[in-house]
Amino acid sequence: MIKKPFIAANWKMYKTTGEAVSFAQDIEEMIEDLDVEVVVCPPLTAIKSVSTIIWQDKPNFKLGAQNMFWEEEGAYTGEVSPLMLKELGVDYIIVGHSERRQYFAETDAFVNKKVKSALAHDLIPIMCCGESLERREQGLAERWVNGQIVAGLEGLSPGDIERLVVAYEPIWAIGTGRNALPEDANAMSAYIRSIIAGAYGDELAGQVPILYGGSVKPENISDFMREEHVDGALVGGASLKPDSFAKICMNSIV
Ligand code: PGA
Repeated sequence: MIKKPFIAANWKMYKTTGEAVSFAQDIEEMIEDLDVEVVVCPPLTAIKSVSTIIWQDKPNFKLGAQNMFWEEEGAYTGEVSPLMLKELGVDYIIVGHSERRQYFAETDAFVNKKVKSALAHDLIPIMCCGESLERREQGLAERWVNGQIVAGLEGLSPGDIERLVVAYEPIWAIGTGRNALPEDANAMSAYIRSIIAGAYGDELAGQVPILYGGSVKPENISDFMREEHVDGALVGGASLKPDSFAKICMNSIV
């Protein structure tokens, strides 16, 4: 079966609105006709411009946000709600990225609330998981990821699972230039699928796109895409330049 690649750009805290708009203009022509699900997650401040000025009515491109709070509104200084993101044309939301877990004290319980809130507001969560180098070296990677997946999906219905995306991002591979071996990414993705299958059955588990993230580049994306259980990538650093991101999208078709 030929799978449609799913390539998501996580810009983190990079790009002013002007830079984001110019990126969107540059990339549009390069990847317009590719059969790839392309999701770009700009910083919050640039979402509206990219959405309304550039990418309105472009079925190939979707917008994502990097974070949200789970409530619709309230006295939560500095937070943004799912309703506010929907209004901007956002379809996807990254939840539980390791940088949010590390620097902003996000727990598995927070991640679960955000996943549920996203789904309730018609946003597709890209739920991140992944172990530290220490845990991998101790042989605890699977146990750690299992805990994150089970807690993150707690209370979800089968209908919710149909709209879920998971990203496996080993922390030691993020921003380091040291990507996981494609076969290791595949093994962990297969394991994640088996956890979901255990709770929801093989058919639903087979439909969940599982992305790999961590130092993905134009040179290594096709190796990941050739693996059975890797359906795409969540790309940080290499998604910031139009050329390199376009090449990743092109090379993801294997
Ligand atoms: P990287 O980041 O591609 O720069 O390693 C991936 C991510 O954090 O999602």
